[in-house]
Amino acid sequence: MAILKVARLGHPVLRQVAAPVPVKEIPSPGIQRLIDDMVETMRDYDGAGLAATQVHTLKQICVVEVNANPRYPDADRIPLTVLVNPKVTPLTEEMEEGWEGCLSVPDMRGMVPRPTAVRLEAHDRDGGRIDLIAKEFFARVIQHETDHLHGIVYLDRMKNLSTLCHLAEWNKYWMGNDEQGEGD
Ligand code: NI
Repeated sequence: MAILKVARLGHPVLRQVAAPVPVKEIPSPGIQRLIDDMVETMRDYDGAGLAATQVHTLKQICVVEVNANPRYPDADRIPLTVLVNPKVTPLTEEMEEGWEGCLSVPDMRGMVPRPTAVRLEAHDRDGGRIDLIAKEFFARVIQHETDHLHGIVYLDRMKNLSTLCHLAEWNKYWMGNDEQGEGD
């Protein structure tokens, strides 16, 4: 396994659209290795999720995990979830604002409106079908990661940029503590 280099905002790959992975190719060693490397990279950076486009690979794969993450100390836990060819469909017009950060936009946070419930259709790393309803924080994270696979970053989803913060200022003025968040 290897820790991969994460593309930062400005790298053209982040604005490209990833291609679907043919289901019969999901078990291949190349795809399985990519998934393992993405999980290791996400954990090393303390990310809540990572999309393949962020590691310079235009394939529709993302990984998500939140498990006592120092970057998101109050967030709900999310078990390790691997999504291949994810499709997200909003189930409500109700939108909620929530803070987001991104490994490709280091040391920043911003408030992003997202639908609070979505249907998620995808394949897992064994090629099995996933079809479920995601709500709240899990829904937010999979929308963020699926956006990456379509060349969209969270800044594009902000209503305006007035809440865009550097991490130190976010901790100081918005979170009521001055403990530095870790990684990004
Ligand atoms: Ni991101």
